[in-house]
Amino acid sequence: MDFATTIDTALDRGIVLGYGSVGLRVRRRLPGWPADPPPMPGKTVLVTGAGSGLGLAAATGFARLGAQVHVLGRNAERAGEAARRTLERAPGADVRPQACDVSDLAQLRAFAEKFAGEEPRLDVLVNNAGVMPGRRTHTADGLELTFATQVVAPWVLTAGLEPVLARSAPSRVINVVSGGLYGQRIPAGDLQSADTRYGPKKVYARTKREELVLTQQWAERLLDRGVHVHAMHPGWADTEGVRTGMPVFRALTRPVIRTPDEGADTIVWLGSAPEAVESSGLFWHDRRPRPATHPLGAGPDDEPARKRLWDYVEGIATPHLNRQ
Ligand SMILES: NC(=O)c1ccc[n+]([C@@H]2O[C@H](COP(=O)([O-])OP(=O)(O)OC[C@H]3O[C@@H](n4cnc5c(N)ncnc54)[C@H](OP(=O)(O)O)[C@@H]3O)[C@@H](O)[C@H]2O)c1
Repeated sequence: MDFATTIDTALDRGIVLGYGSVGLRVRRRLPGWPADPPPMPGKTVLVTGAGSGLGLAAATGFARLGAQVHVLGRNAERAGEAARRTLERAPGADVRPQACDVSDLAQLRAFAEKFAGEEPRLDVLVNNAGVMPGRRTHTADGLELTFATQVVAPWVLTAGLEPVLARSAPSRVINVVSGGLYGQRIPAGDLQSADTRYGPKKVYARTKREELVLTQQWAERLLDRGVHVHAMHPGWADTEGVRTGMPVFRALTRPVIRTPDEGADTIVWLGSAPEAVESSGLFWHDRRPRPATHPLGAGPDDEPARKRLWDYVEGIATPHLNRQ
C-alpha cells in the first residue's frame, strides 16, 4: 500500500478525522486525488430534498457545472424555495422546481410517471431526502417514516425513472446514505423496525444499511441498461437535519464538522466524473470506493436477508406483485 493510500485508509478507519472536514482537506492534498468533475452542459439532474443541507449544496454544484437541475421539495412551496436558493448560489442556471412528498407512495408514483413521460432525459438521480424523526411516525400508507423516506422512496424513484435514465445512458443514480450504517445489519424479520424499541439513530442507521443493500441490487439489475447505481456517505456535515435531529452530536463535532458543500462534494463528483460509470454498486466517500463493512461494525448481511429485503420493498412499491 502506498503512502497516500495508507493515510486515506487510516482516515477512513479512524472515523473522527476522516468523517470531519480535516479528512477531506488532507485527502485533497494527497497524490492521486481524483480530478474535479467535468462540466455538464446538456445533462439533466434530479435532486430530492434539495431545499436545504446537502441537497441544496449538491443542486448548486450541478447547476454551477452547467446541468439542468430539477430540485425536488416536499410541496410546491418547498420546491420553490429550493429553486430560489439554488439560483441565488448559481445565478443564471437552469433550475426547475419539482413538488413531491417522497414519503407518500401515490405522490411518488405520479411524480415518477409524469417526469419519465415528459422529460427527454435524466442523467443523474440523487436520492438525498432524509429524515430522523424523534419518535416513531407512520405515513398515510402505514409505513414507518424513516423507512418510507430512505428505503421505499429511492426504490420507487429508481424503478419509476428507469425508462428515462436508460434513455440517457450511461446515467447515474446516487443514493445518499450514512457512515452510521456500519453499525447495523439488515433487521431480518423486522424490516421496518416495528418490533424494535424505537431509537431515532438506530432506526435511521438501519434504513441506511437497507438503502445500501438495495443500491447494490439495483446496480446488478440496471447494469445492462447503462444505469450506474452508487451509494455515498458524506461524513459529518453541518445541516439543518443534524442541528435539529442531533444537537448533542453537532455540539461535540463542531470543531471538525464539514460544511454542506464539503459533505456534498462526492455527490457532485459521482454525478459527473467518468470514474463513476466505470463501475456500479459501490459505496463511496471522499471520491473513493469504501468497504461496505467496517472492522468495528456489525458485519456483512447474508444473501437470504438481502433477497428478502428486495422482495419486501418491491412488494410495497408495486402492490400488484402482492409480496408483502
Ligand atoms: N448531514 C450529515 O452529516 C449527514 C450524514 C450522513 C448522511 N446524511 C444524509 O444526507 C441527506 C441530506 O441530509 P441533510 O443532512 O442535508 O439534512 P436536511 O438539511 O434536513 O435535508 C433533508 C432534506 O430532505 C427533505 N425531505 C425530508 N423528507 C422529505 C419528503 N418526505 N419529501 C421531500 N423532501 C423531504 C427535507 O425537506 P424539508 O426541509 O421540507 O423537511 C430536506 O430538504 C439525508 O439522506 C441524510 O440522511 C447526512
